[in-house]
Amino acid sequence: MTTGVPSNIAVHCAGVTKTYTTETTTVPALRGIDIDVKFGELLMLVGPSGCGKTTLISVIAGILDHDSGECLVFNRDLKHMPDKDRTKFRGENIGFVFQAYNLIHTLTAQENVAIPLLIRGVVFDEALKKAAEVLQRVGLGERLTSLPSELSGGQQQRVAIARALVHEPKLIVCDEPTAALDHDTGQKIMGLFREVAIGENRALIIVTHDSRIFPFADRIAKLDDGKIIAVATAKEFLNGNQHL
Ligand SMILES: Nc1ncnc2c1ncn2[C@@H]1O[C@H](COP(=O)(O)OP(=O)(O)O)[C@@H](O)[C@H]1O
Ligand SMILES: [Mg+2]
Repeated sequence: MTTGVPSNIAVHCAGVTKTYTTETTTVPALRGIDIDVKFGELLMLVGPSGCGKTTLISVIAGILDHDSGECLVFNRDLKHMPDKDRTKFRGENIGFVFQAYNLIHTLTAQENVAIPLLIRGVVFDEALKKAAEVLQRVGLGERLTSLPSELSGGQQQRVAIARALVHEPKLIVCDEPTAALDHDTGQKIMGLFREVAIGENRALIIVTHDSRIFPFADRIAKLDDGKIIAVATAKEFLNGNQHL
């Protein structure tokens, strides 16, 4: 589709709204979100619990449809794509690290990480080899054959991160990727993200409460009650010119 989004923009949100409707309540989770994420950028989303962070990245990743406004990823409108095309587009272009890891419990760490490659048609042995390499990079080279139930929370989180990185998607969105990690591992994982997930035609969005990783961001956007209330460079936030 053709739109007026500049070519340096990876993700474009304009006036995005989303209200959850259940039998008993309606919850306006996003109340008009305007944000652009540039290619080569790491944007962090911060804000209190329930302010809409997970909803926003779910909309961006095409897991959830917004109600109104425009959300484009690489200038493509996932909401209006036929299901088959959307699934293919997501499989090829988007890596998602869920807060709850979403690992498959009957598969080993290595097999879990291989899944995005198998979906893309990579042959089994090759996929397992690549999965082992990425697990090595997140510090789990010794745990390839462990089942998720045999791993700690932090280790499962790293398997989920490896799975999002393995097929080198152009956009990675992560929900609290360092929440279960100790300080040193968190810093190491962020270094890895910067090294492998940021590039000329790639972008990374991280939802986080973890102020220890703020310095890795290019920009930080603060949400409150379904709206973005401040956007600034990580430096501006850290210098105290903006409050988080
Ligand atoms: N599936 C759902 N059904 C109904 N309400 C939901 C659902 N998911 C989230 N919400 C509500 O939407 C709001 C935003 O939630 P969420 O995006 O998960 O916030 P955050 O990730 O910032 O904690 C909250 O009030 C939450 O309770
Ligand atoms: Mg959340």
